[in-house]
Amino acid sequence: MTHRGAWNSRWSFILATTGSAIGLGNIWKLPYMIGVNGGSAFVLIYILSIILVGLPLLMTEVMLGRRVQKNPMNAMQSLAKESNRSSAWKYVGGMGMLTGVLILCFYSVIGGWVLSYISTAIFEGFSNITAEEASAHFNALLASPLTLLLWHSIFMIVTMSVVSRGVSSGLEKANNFLIPALFAILLILLGYSMSVGDMQSAFDFMFTADFSKITPLTALVAMGHAFFSLSIGMGSVMVYGSYLKREVSISRTSVYIAAADTLLGLLVGLAIYALVFVNHLEPDAGPGLIFQTLPMAFGQMPLGNLFGSLFFILVAFAASTSAISLVEPTIAWIVENTNFNRNKASLGLGLLIWSVGIVVLLSFNIWQDVTIFFGFGIFDTLDKLTSTIMLPLGGFLMAIFAGYLMKKHHSKEELDLDNRGYRLWQYANNIIAPVAICAVFLYLFNTTS
Ligand code: PHE
Repeated sequence: MTHRGAWNSRWSFILATTGSAIGLGNIWKLPYMIGVNGGSAFVLIYILSIILVGLPLLMTEVMLGRRVQKNPMNAMQSLAKESNRSSAWKYVGGMGMLTGVLILCFYSVIGGWVLSYISTAIFEGFSNITAEEASAHFNALLASPLTLLLWHSIFMIVTMSVVSRGVSSGLEKANNFLIPALFAILLILLGYSMSVGDMQSAFDFMFTADFSKITPLTALVAMGHAFFSLSIGMGSVMVYGSYLKREVSISRTSVYIAAADTLLGLLVGLAIYALVFVNHLEPDAGPGLIFQTLPMAFGQMPLGNLFGSLFFILVAFAASTSAISLVEPTIAWIVENTNFNRNKASLGLGLLIWSVGIVVLLSFNIWQDVTIFFGFGIFDTLDKLTSTIMLPLGGFLMAIFAGYLMKKHHSKEELDLDNRGYRLWQYANNIIAPVAICAVFLYLFNTTS
């Protein structure tokens, strides 16, 4: 028997799951994806996806995990057994575990970028850096495999050492101050952007919906990002839910988590775009966007070096709490099903991810031109495969299972909603979410074939 951790309080669960949700997805990925995918059209679909698909599936996933208190693969197996369904459902959990591992292979490389910016912020500062210099600095980082390797390795070592200690003891304390601190520093940044940046253009760019820019691909990418950002569709939330005590209200906590996550991402977006427009930069700069714009802001604001260092430190923390949740499903599976303990499991899985991460970091320089999948490079392939295919597919299967195959009184008991609330969840989980996911997949398939 392995000892399973449990959250000490409802607050710890909220913080840990918010810590999983808030990460590079909000700070690095959302801002550049808004720019690459046409601004407000993307934002609109993203917000709709969060409300109509993301939130109900977040509840579903917590509910599935808490019901049987196991890692995702064993959880799906027990849930299937409990409702007399095929044990093949366990592969939904298995696919989720694989998705998390694949995401961490590139997530850690980007986490490494953030670490390298901490070091620049502390030791060199960004004083009066120009747009060209900021961009040259970023390009120089990408061009140096050894520097990328150094920071990617440090990111992996830190992540896996926290994981090896066990999530519920290692994480609770860190999260308590981390998320509030991140919001606080973001407000400072936002205040600065408002005073010097072009907030009006940023606002128009993000919120004046231009429906003509909505393409099937935008829809899929925006929906995929809703999954990515909320950490759903792969078992992270399921495994965190499995450490959750029975008394806690799943619906209320899910609303808090989704709201904090979305708010933070949109605020970062506004802060960045106000700076982009006032400096006449291109909104569609891609993955380097925040690394090219923020140093300029920190280079000019009062106490910029201090705030810049603090900002990148907090982003690194946020990234590591997400990274931890990406591997926790697999670690929990290994510990609960094999003879390996947490330390050995963390070491082995960490080495594997670290090695694949090296391939990813080389795709930003020496292997820049290598394409492996429909003309996509290594980083793009991993990113697209996980965010736009595996996460929505995982979410779809969980929704079908929870809505149609699990016994109703079980989901009802677990969700603990009144009749109206339960019906609302059913409607979202059983109909809206699966139909939306299918529609977006089919729409894309039709237009690309
Ligand atoms: N939600 C995290 C982020 O936004 C990434 C993540 C995805 C974490 C899926 C766990 C599972 O950075």
